[in-house]
Amino acid sequence: MVAILDALYRDHGNIARLLDILDEELAVFDEAERPDYEVIRAIVDYFRIYPDRVHHPREDLVFARLAERAPEAAKTVGDLVGEHAEVSARLGRFAFALDQILGEGVMTRREFREIARDFVDGERRHMAAEEERFFPVALKALTEEDWAELDSTLSTEPDPLFRDDVREEFAALRRQIDRMEQKAREERAGKTPR
Ligand SMILES: [Fe+2]
Ligand SMILES: [Fe+2]
Repeated sequence: MVAILDALYRDHGNIARLLDILDEELAVFDEAERPDYEVIRAIVDYFRIYPDRVHHPREDLVFARLAERAPEAAKTVGDLVGEHAEVSARLGRFAFALDQILGEGVMTRREFREIARDFVDGERRHMAAEEERFFPVALKALTEEDWAELDSTLSTEPDPLFRDDVREEFAALRRQIDRMEQKAREERAGKTPR
């Protein structure tokens, strides 16, 4: 596997874990209870720091090379750059909604819920489309030299959350991820979770 694609797939796996956590927090919200806003806030911060600033720009680089190398194939992928702008806008709306619901804002719970759902669903759709079309098309059309060059652009920008020395502001979120995954493992193993 090509290093840059490998990194992109790994990011998708990590993002999917966070979207599952948001699902759980939104389910708590739906019960008219208080979700863990600290965790939601950390997820929004993470999306701003890593997927928005590192993951999508990496994909844009691959897409730009694809458009050069195989313009017809690139057309079948669609407007990736435009999609990334939409993904970013949905994140911005979600961050704004979170500020509103936690602060003095006038947003209703229902509006917050809709914006949060739109963000989670939009991310899932976007990743699924990339895995279904963009990544396979790029893998087929780009040459070894293309990939070697793209790999050499891989920044050393570390993922602030999914790493051994997780950054302080993400420590609580990381514990939450570990707890949820432990619970899922126990449920699969047929044990009752604690
Ligand atoms: Fe993307
Ligand atoms: Fe992606």
